Amino acid sequence: MNYGHFDDSTREYVITNPMTPWPWINYLGNEDFFSLISNTAGGYAFYRDAKFRRLTRYRYNNVPMDNGGRYFYINDGGTVWSPGWKPVKTVLDHYECRHGLSYTRIAGRKNDLEASVLFFIPLKSWCEVQLLTLKNTGRQPKRFKLFSFVEWCLWNADDDQNNLQRNLSTGEVEIDGSTLFHKTEYKDRRDHYAFYHVNAPVQGYDTDRESFAGLYNELSGPQAVLEGQPRNSCAHGWSPIASHCLEIELAPGQARELIFILGYVENAGEQKWESANVINKTNAQALISRFDTPEKARVAFNGLRSYWDGLLNRFVLKSGDEKLDRMVNIWNQYQCMVTFNMSRSASCFEVGIGRGMGFRDSNQDLIGFVHLVPDRARQRIIDIASTQFEDGGAYHQYQPLTKRGNDAIGGNFNDDPLWLILSATEYLKETGDFGILDEMVPFDHDETRAKPLFDHLKASFYHVVNNLGPHGLPLIGRADWNDCLNLNCFSTNPDESFQTTENRTGKTAESVMIAGLFVVYGREFARLCRLTGRQQESNTAEMHVSQMVETVKQYGWDGEWYLRAYDFFGRKVGSRENDEGKIFIESQGWCAMAEIGKENGMVEKALDAVKERLDCEHGIVLNNPAFTKYMIEYGEISTYPPGYKENAGIFCHNNPWIMIGETMIGRGERAWEYYRKICPSYLEDISELHKTEPYVYAQMIAGKDAHKPGEAKNSWLTGTAAWNYYAVTRYILGIRPDYDGLLIDPCIPAAWEGYEITRRLRDTTYHIRVSNPHGVSKGVMQVLVDGEEINGNLIPYSPGNVFTVEVTMGIMAPVLAH
Ligand code: BGC
Repeated sequence: MNYGHFDDSTREYVITNPMTPWPWINYLGNEDFFSLISNTAGGYAFYRDAKFRRLTRYRYNNVPMDNGGRYFYINDGGTVWSPGWKPVKTVLDHYECRHGLSYTRIAGRKNDLEASVLFFIPLKSWCEVQLLTLKNTGRQPKRFKLFSFVEWCLWNADDDQNNLQRNLSTGEVEIDGSTLFHKTEYKDRRDHYAFYHVNAPVQGYDTDRESFAGLYNELSGPQAVLEGQPRNSCAHGWSPIASHCLEIELAPGQARELIFILGYVENAGEQKWESANVINKTNAQALISRFDTPEKARVAFNGLRSYWDGLLNRFVLKSGDEKLDRMVNIWNQYQCMVTFNMSRSASCFEVGIGRGMGFRDSNQDLIGFVHLVPDRARQRIIDIASTQFEDGGAYHQYQPLTKRGNDAIGGNFNDDPLWLILSATEYLKETGDFGILDEMVPFDHDETRAKPLFDHLKASFYHVVNNLGPHGLPLIGRADWNDCLNLNCFSTNPDESFQTTENRTGKTAESVMIAGLFVVYGREFARLCRLTGRQQESNTAEMHVSQMVETVKQYGWDGEWYLRAYDFFGRKVGSRENDEGKIFIESQGWCAMAEIGKENGMVEKALDAVKERLDCEHGIVLNNPAFTKYMIEYGEISTYPPGYKENAGIFCHNNPWIMIGETMIGRGERAWEYYRKICPSYLEDISELHKTEPYVYAQMIAGKDAHKPGEAKNSWLTGTAAWNYYAVTRYILGIRPDYDGLLIDPCIPAAWEGYEITRRLRDTTYHIRVSNPHGVSKGVMQVLVDGEEINGNLIPYSPGNVFTVEVTMGIMAPVLAH
């Protein structure tokens, strides 16, 4: 069943039934001020940090679902309704929600009255603008009451829910005509307040929740709305809100536009007050005056649209398959940008008060947006590297506001350091900005210990070399990429975290996945050394990498596939000798990408084992058979019921590793089959089962051992976005920026006839047409650049604005290194 459809011409997903199987959300904002918005206008706004500067309240995991938002109520002669259906849930004559790029438009119609709201956050502004259009579509004049509603969060979203003995007494507001201010704690340590404004005189207002709603009413039927009578309440403690009431008359056919602005203001110490206890509103008024007419709002909105046009013209695909095109051209890139902005903080599954920025997550996210905002990618690399330790290890997470490592979680996740080599080298290939390698970057935020970024990459490399276990494989530490494979944690206490408990560190547990990762990024490091004139360094690195390749062949191979690890006792993990968890996806992916043993068929065998044992209708599961009992020596992985999360769920993040692995041995059909299986636009028709948004990836789809295979969870904020984008653009469509040129190396189903791509890179535009007249999966026979044949499939960078590239695939491929 479908709940809507894609509108590619406007780059929107159009929801036509408000009762989606889960709130289908969108994000507003691009730099400092953000909002989440569901298809029924649920969600919340925050400034920079969803925990410490949350403006409005939202109730996670509540009844009903998706509780709290910016709501409009209409009382039209006793019929009460909301344009977004919720919270009133009156059946509408028409409903439509259009989620676009950083904006959402929600429209409802009831009894010849139409209400449409465009929600967006203008660029470089700390406010959410809501342009509400009301229209009388009938033949009779209309007179009705309109109420707006937001509930203020007392800033710290964590404390807001917990510290009621204090919070129910601290709330403070100020009322100034059509602007309702929230100023809790402003008189002491806060230099910020929020406001909710409408650009018209109001008939009344409310700022106290109980006065507005009634103590035992739900938000679906606030007393003031039902009676059509605002209370003009002033909140003193309890729960402050902001609600405007306007009485509106519309002649038949007449429309009226109103602008609501939900804003955030900071005032430096001296400028806090206008007079005793009266806040200084100058900055608020200035902000309001930028958007307080429909014309101004539209100009700002157009600015936002142009911003996205500019970003998305950097990679444009025409394949003839609209589902593929819309993911590659629009939604996948959009999700990468949102994930960049949010990391793992705020979604329908992340409550915005938990995790900081992950070291490994942020490095991986970068490969999905580096082509869109290279400058911001550069800063991100520096921020991440500044939290690294001198021995190359890293805090597992850091806080977005302070950019400091998070002591509470600590480090020792031994894959972490290597991801920095991934992000830095991808950045270099995209931009050619080798200067970044000389940038002085502190270790653990200590400027006195700053070293060039290159030294951080070297420290990352040697962190592996210096931490090898008994077989010569990398020690796993608390966990590698799989946070839940905790081989040094033996936990019997349900109150402790698997991630921070490391109670048996025998320096024995080893990871074959890190070994594969090390071979891939160790080679990248060696190559970088060579390119920057560090030949000796490069040779030494190559030597360590070759050593690791041999070690994996000797100790990391199980006969048909790569082992996953050795546990604390030195026993094999992910081997046919095990009863459960005989095979894992991660080591197959990384060792295949590293091409370890490719010459004697290991890669092919391992990938065949993936197909046979891990693949299913909905994607590739993480391990098989799923764990059915708690294995204390494996940690959290075996705590999940079979088929979910790291215990044999389809962890979409790692499926692309297998796709890329398949392209290494030229199996375009397989790579494509895996891509399609988890790609949301191909799952639209099974939305009822899939549950989460058909326009973005979810972190996890329940695997074949689950109660309900195919059901997705954790949409939006996941490394899945970046890795799928990377796999499809760089390895399937095969357009890969490299240091000296743009490499063209597709690996596609043999039946594909070709496709076109426009790629902007380093201020140059390449119009590339790939044709496949001989029906091959891999191999480039000829490349013409502006009609001239080049040698091989690497288009050397050369100054120029626009190049036309004709690529002919075929079996005569001159093979170049990737
Ligand atoms: C975390 C990643 C981790 C993955 C697998 C995600 O929730 O953000 O850092 O690699 O789970 O455990």
